[in-house]
Amino acid sequence: MPIPERYLEELTERNDIVDVVGQYVRLSKKSGANYFGLCPFHSEKTPSFSVNPSRQIYHCFGCGKGGGVISFIMEVENLSFQDAVAFLARRVNMPPPEDTDAEGSSRRKVLLELNRDAARFFHEQLLGPQGAPARSYVARRGISPAMVKNFGLGYAPDSWSSLRDAMEQKGYSLQDLFEAGLIKRGKNGSGGYDAFRNRLMFPVIDVRGSVIGFSGRILGDGEPKYLNSPETRVFSKSHNLFGLNLAKKSKNGYIILVEGNIDVVSLHQAGFSGAVASLGTSLTAEQARLISRFTDEVVLCYDSDEAGRKATARAIGILEKLELKVRVLQVPGAKDPDEFIQKNGPDAFRNLIEGSANQVEYRLRDLERLHPPEGDEGRVDYLKAAVELLSGLPGSVEREVYAQRVADKAGVSRQAVLSEVARVRKRKFSAQRKKEVRDQTRPAQTAQPVFRSIRYDDPRSARAEEGLIRLLYLDPSLARGRELPEPECFSSPVLGKFYAELLGRIQSGESLSMGVLAGRFTPDEVSHLTSVLNGTADLQNAPKALDDYIHIISHREDDGEDLRQMAEEYRKTKAYGGTI
Ligand code: GTP
Ligand code: MN
Repeated sequence: MPIPERYLEELTERNDIVDVVGQYVRLSKKSGANYFGLCPFHSEKTPSFSVNPSRQIYHCFGCGKGGGVISFIMEVENLSFQDAVAFLARRVNMPPPEDTDAEGSSRRKVLLELNRDAARFFHEQLLGPQGAPARSYVARRGISPAMVKNFGLGYAPDSWSSLRDAMEQKGYSLQDLFEAGLIKRGKNGSGGYDAFRNRLMFPVIDVRGSVIGFSGRILGDGEPKYLNSPETRVFSKSHNLFGLNLAKKSKNGYIILVEGNIDVVSLHQAGFSGAVASLGTSLTAEQARLISRFTDEVVLCYDSDEAGRKATARAIGILEKLELKVRVLQVPGAKDPDEFIQKNGPDAFRNLIEGSANQVEYRLRDLERLHPPEGDEGRVDYLKAAVELLSGLPGSVEREVYAQRVADKAGVSRQAVLSEVARVRKRKFSAQRKKEVRDQTRPAQTAQPVFRSIRYDDPRSARAEEGLIRLLYLDPSLARGRELPEPECFSSPVLGKFYAELLGRIQSGESLSMGVLAGRFTPDEVSHLTSVLNGTADLQNAPKALDDYIHIISHREDDGEDLRQMAEEYRKTKAYGGTI
């Protein structure tokens, strides 16, 4: 019995490949979209095994294996397809496929058919004699007949049983209607009445084109403004977006994320066919992943109230994790994009998109709002906050560009901003380096290698030895013009052996590739060397770190004194933390 595709979709959505692979492979993020790790399927010394979070696939550049999360589990756990599915289902507490299989998949089929029939019914009602009030509301909102058709908008009549009667006539049972969330049970559990009454109906259609649920808006004012289908076998709010069935085909090149269903319709009508809305929830990671299947750029255009701003900040975080390019668009003088377009027209909106801020600009503007740069005190506050923000930007060009903007706002020179930024960065990085030094002086047991065959007598020095090896491996040019310790100075024989090999090769200009190095050591040693090389390294501060390492290695005798000094220095520098 084949497992239904829908089940497999949900299963793979809930088992994020980065999480699953991460339980077997130490993944790290080098640069770009991918995570890298050592391939679990063939022996390798440098990570050639990559995991792409937005595509949810893995691929090994070494042995060529690749696939999705299910094939990963099949390979790594040596399971059949069915067993791998069951394995992943248990992992996320999903009912096993056999439970839902025969019965479940036929139930889902029924519910999808029912939803489609209900959508047709609502649509016919909107166009028919009953639909007059809804048609006039639609017209009042400026929604065109073409959009009514494209979105399959409908009207749930002001009646307790019109949908129920129509669907029963088509052969659906009360149980079907109830499970689809289309009727509610009567007080004593008997009968059932239409859940949506006198509402404008927005069918929610998934990316495969199935009607999975509904959103119903009240005609005019009143509470609740929207009613949504409950979670059902086929509908999950957090996994779907309104409008994505159309937006996925958009040629705009980006997805516009808005809050409201009406905004989606209005934007599509104005030619922005990439508009989607999360279904009345704040953006979820699953929704973001879904979006990332269709685009690599998202324009956030939430309402301009406080809730919208909060939602924007949250969404930026979620989208950036998936390496999506994010722009933030604020609509001036309107509560939402729909109102803006009604007032100013599509061209004005297009201009907004073209000039829309990337997230740095957005965050800077947000700062301006929080700390208006007015008066001396206001300008200082603004400057402090802006400098903090700029100091976190990785690129120097980016920092310079935005420093100009901040300088203009605060009425100071760009140079003044940049030197403040440099000062904060220096403090940040020095704090990071201090932390590394502290890590190196951690208690012995945590500093021991994982291989029992390799022990460190002097873990503190060994940490420095590891650091020295790592930095030289990553940037051999650091060896130039420096007095380096002799391998004999190393406290750990095995690290000394690595270091001697590395140094000899650097000095004679030979290859440092792991493929070559692998042949020189035992397998345990190679695994250990790999783990040493895989450790974190702060290349930005490499020269200083290198000197620290060398100092520690060459002054092993006067250990105690050294530690005291370092602690002293750390205490002193801590005193100025937090003031800029
Ligand atoms: P307009 O006010 O007509 O512009 O509606 P809108 O579609 O733009 O909706 P709005 O911006 O007010 O709300 C954003 C989204 O939140 C809506 O599309 C709904 O999905 C959801 N929502 C709003 N009000 C309610 C409510 O009362 N209940 C529920 N469950 N969801 C709501
Ligand atoms: Mn709105």
